[in-house]
Amino acid sequence: NWNMENFIADQIELIKRQVGDKKVLLALSGGVDSSVVAALLIRAIGKQLTCVHVNHGLLRKGEPEQVVQVFRDEMDANLIYVDAVDRFLDKLAGVADPEQKRKIIGAEFIRVFEEEARKLEGIEFLGQGTIYPDIIESGTKTVKVIKSHHNVGGLPEDLDFALVEPLKMLFKDEVRACGKALGLPDSMVYRQPFPGPGLGVRCLGAITRDRLEAVRESDAILREEFAKNGLEGKVWQYFTAIPDLKSVGVKDNKRVDEWCAIIRAVNTIDAMTATVENVPFELLQHITDRITHEVKGINRVLFDLTPKPTGTIEFE
Ligand code: XMP
Repeated sequence: NWNMENFIADQIELIKRQVGDKKVLLALSGGVDSSVVAALLIRAIGKQLTCVHVNHGLLRKGEPEQVVQVFRDEMDANLIYVDAVDRFLDKLAGVADPEQKRKIIGAEFIRVFEEEARKLEGIEFLGQGTIYPDIIESGTKTVKVIKSHHNVGGLPEDLDFALVEPLKMLFKDEVRACGKALGLPDSMVYRQPFPGPGLGVRCLGAITRDRLEAVRESDAILREEFAKNGLEGKVWQYFTAIPDLKSVGVKDNKRVDEWCAIIRAVNTIDAMTATVENVPFELLQHITDRITHEVKGINRVLFDLTPKPTGTIEFE
């Protein structure tokens, strides 16, 4: 009979049989799929696994720190933390076109990962958080950067590892249940969807460090307030975006030219269409008050009332 305990025990056996005494490399973004596959591989083969976490500077507040805490400190994994923030932001400087931004982020990710892979000796396998929907909807945007790039030959020939994909028959809710059974924190297992290019596509147009910081801080406030007010886990996806646009405002009796943060909060089944969450007005006012007072460079907050269609969920 199928249950999560049996699934985990079976997969541990299968992974051990496939890998033997060889080494496995895994790109660990901290998203649900890569985190669950990491936890499973750690259970199965411990230090034969090396995880690489690339901090590209476009993650949400606290995410890189959580990856280090959960996997290195608590699960005692081999974890290589790569601070690639400057590399990514330098490459992205002045680039306003969204598709170009996505390409740069994807290509740079592969380059950083490849450099780390070359430093390691004797790796024969690549762990991947491929899940069943990735196979049946192959080619959609939900496929992780490393998955799609590896599949289109993103990694060079001589780094063409054999794949270890223990989650590939699971649906998302089963992946979450598996992560929970393996002891991962709820904040990791039940997190909302987050695009591969991360905050990079929410800092609209050409990314600057100060505006990116404002995106990160305003997003952190929104998430904190949604969690406090029972909306976490209820609303499918919520975030802030900041256009490259300033407007006049008043702070401390002085005129200030600053950006506006846009709040988006949507519900959907399959991300093809989406409706806007009816966020209580008082909560929106409170969040506005916090963002305009706590986030540097923001003097207005707007709420996006647009369903998909005609809007998309993200802004670029
Ligand atoms: P849109 O904006 O197309 O978003 O309505 C639908 C869903 O896809 C996510 N999204 C992405 N995910 N890489 C990803 O991995 C991307 O480039 C990307 N763009 C959008 C978006 O967050 C939403 O959940």
